[in-house]
Amino acid sequence: MRSDANIAGPMADPVPGPRPADSEPVPGPGPLGAAEVVSRETRMPRPDQTRVMVVANQKGGVGKTTTTVNLAASLALHGNRVLVVDLDPQGNASTALGIDHHADVPSIYDVLVDQRKLSDVVQPVRDVEGLFCAPATIDLAGAEIELVSLVARESRLDRAIKAYEQPLDYILIDCPPSLGLLTVNALVAGAEVLIPIQCEYYALEGLGQLLRNVELVRGHLNPKLHVSTILLTMYDGRTRLASQVADEVRSHFGQEVLRTSIPRSVRISEAPSYGQTVLTYDPGSSGALSYLEAAREIALRGVAVHYDDTGAHTVGHQSVGHQPGGHQAGSHQQQQDQHSMSEGLQ
Ligand SMILES: Nc1ncnc2c1ncn2[C@@H]1O[C@H](COP(=O)(O)OP(=O)(O)O)[C@@H](O)[C@H]1O
Ligand SMILES: [Mg+2]
Repeated sequence: MRSDANIAGPMADPVPGPRPADSEPVPGPGPLGAAEVVSRETRMPRPDQTRVMVVANQKGGVGKTTTTVNLAASLALHGNRVLVVDLDPQGNASTALGIDHHADVPSIYDVLVDQRKLSDVVQPVRDVEGLFCAPATIDLAGAEIELVSLVARESRLDRAIKAYEQPLDYILIDCPPSLGLLTVNALVAGAEVLIPIQCEYYALEGLGQLLRNVELVRGHLNPKLHVSTILLTMYDGRTRLASQVADEVRSHFGQEVLRTSIPRSVRISEAPSYGQTVLTYDPGSSGALSYLEAAREIALRGVAVHYDDTGAHTVGHQSVGHQPGGHQAGSHQQQQDQHSMSEGLQ
């Protein structure tokens, strides 16, 4: 178990706070545009290497897709170039980003099964500059089985990403709610695992299995893989249960847990039906602001920012705690921590 020393404590979540869920305070005199919200934010440095983050939790409905698309939009609105890889046959991330993904659209299935180039299937996201999506179509439902008999079945996504030539700051991979070959492909391709945890009873149940899979993949296929980020989602400050779950998660995972939690918000759940993220659908809503804040934490954790005399900033990697860039092997300490976490969770 990790020390919580540099976490201000479970009550330190500035965003969800104790206000009623679904109250959507709009700061300032009127609704804000995305650009105004962004301009209020100050630092969201770009990493100096592509960070490949795997958004995984084998439970459905915990906020994987919502987290993937809204973090991706937050990062892109701050000048990052971000690719969302939709690895769920449901194609919910593609829908939320307004990307066409009917059966004939070139998709991540073609990349995994037919070894098509990733650049052949990537589409730009309307409304958010710098944001791109490799969509999933229903074909992907068969890929889990089709991959079994193919060579290099676990590393096909990794190869495709390595061969992708466009410069990117982040790749966020939205996983299906299972631990099959699709999720294994994501874990082989990524360096960081981001686990969204819904603040509900049974939140931690089953997580041990995910953590053991992360260890297995790290041990055999991808030594750089580590759990870098835990995000509490659908936090309802009115309930004691939510804060108990948050406490429990923080005591298990320590500094991997972002200080920002995502509140339950009607705006967040409405946005996908308009083919939008909450960042463009209602930029001033509590849901949008909390995803922006979470993205900022992620960006700041990836790099240490140094300010010079002119006020300009340069970025360099932090040496402890969180691995930047995603292309280095996990430290011994991290491996030990990971081990004890997975023992603690069943
Ligand atoms: N913070 C939130 N507030 C309200 N509804 C949410 C929130 N996060 C996710 N949802 C809703 O919960 C459902 C499951 O979320 P989703 O991101 O699709 O989970 P997963 O990808 O893990 O299956 C969706 O209907 C989504 O709109
Ligand atoms: Mg999903």
